[in-house]
Amino acid sequence: MKILVTRKIPGDHIKKLIDAGHEVTVSEFARPLTAEELVNKIKGVDAAITLLTDRVDGDLIDAAGPQLKIISNYAVGFDNVDLKAATDRGVVVTNTPCDEVNVAVAEHTLALLLDVARRVSESDRATREGAYKGWEPDIFLGNNLNGKNLGIIGLGRIGTMVARYGKALGMNIVYNKTSPDPEIEKELAAKFMSLDDLLANSDFISLHVPLTESTRHMINATSISKMKKGAYLINTARGPVVEESALVAALRVGQLAGAALDVFDNEPNLNPELIGLSNVVLTPHIASATWEAREKMGELAIGAILDLIADKKPVNLANPEVWPARRH
Ligand code: GLV
Ligand code: GLV
Repeated sequence: MKILVTRKIPGDHIKKLIDAGHEVTVSEFARPLTAEELVNKIKGVDAAITLLTDRVDGDLIDAAGPQLKIISNYAVGFDNVDLKAATDRGVVVTNTPCDEVNVAVAEHTLALLLDVARRVSESDRATREGAYKGWEPDIFLGNNLNGKNLGIIGLGRIGTMVARYGKALGMNIVYNKTSPDPEIEKELAAKFMSLDDLLANSDFISLHVPLTESTRHMINATSISKMKKGAYLINTARGPVVEESALVAALRVGQLAGAALDVFDNEPNLNPELIGLSNVVLTPHIASATWEAREKMGELAIGAILDLIADKKPVNLANPEVWPARRH
């Protein structure tokens, strides 16, 4: 089989494909491929390991040719892949959810929560700039997390892990998802709420929904106006879930006390107004960037291709309905 890997990934899992006798091409660039480079490189391959920075649509799949059987997306999210276009063409799409990634993203969410509540990055910057003149009673006051309401929008695998960590810090967990989850309610005394009730009752709101047409800009001027004054927003999901201009406006006037963002509406371009705000913590889409998570993501991405070759259903099929109708 001919296999394309659109960018060098950590670990040595690719070797398994080479050792199995496959012809593997790894992009030579230390950056995402341009759309044109991707079209050229994917031509004639049977399988591709793609990243969340690659846009995979029907045109790209057609450009690859009728022998393309699998898009193995090296990410949990697969909003970069047009799933319907892949399914219509009999192409299998897989992703890489696993405990290691769930933990990594949940831990990063916790890091952001603590950072924005206790102004860690902000006071670190000020300290480096010489602002520290000795202990003062009223500098960099933040908020305790203990006893506060943590609102989790999207209680999937990652959201559930974040709920557990929040609970461990003494927070009250409220959540919104498509239907209530009695097990988590029992485990964490978590309360299911409608989105509007969650917005109105949470001191901290953390987003854990996938990006879909129904979640795009779900946090906008209207939803922010329903939040508690002085609430905080954390986003480690996908940037376009939040309408950034509305967030900036709310942070400016103090409707929101702070925000911590790992993902952005138009990555990697940052809204310059966000950079200018001191009550915002910004990290460069690194929530899953731990050695453990990347190692497992590589194993799963390669494993999906090896499974397909062996005619075995990969564990993480994003479009399971394609399996009986897949290309051979
Ligand atoms: C990272 O954002 C992922 O979806 O894995
Ligand atoms: C991701 O796996 C999620 O369910 O939040």
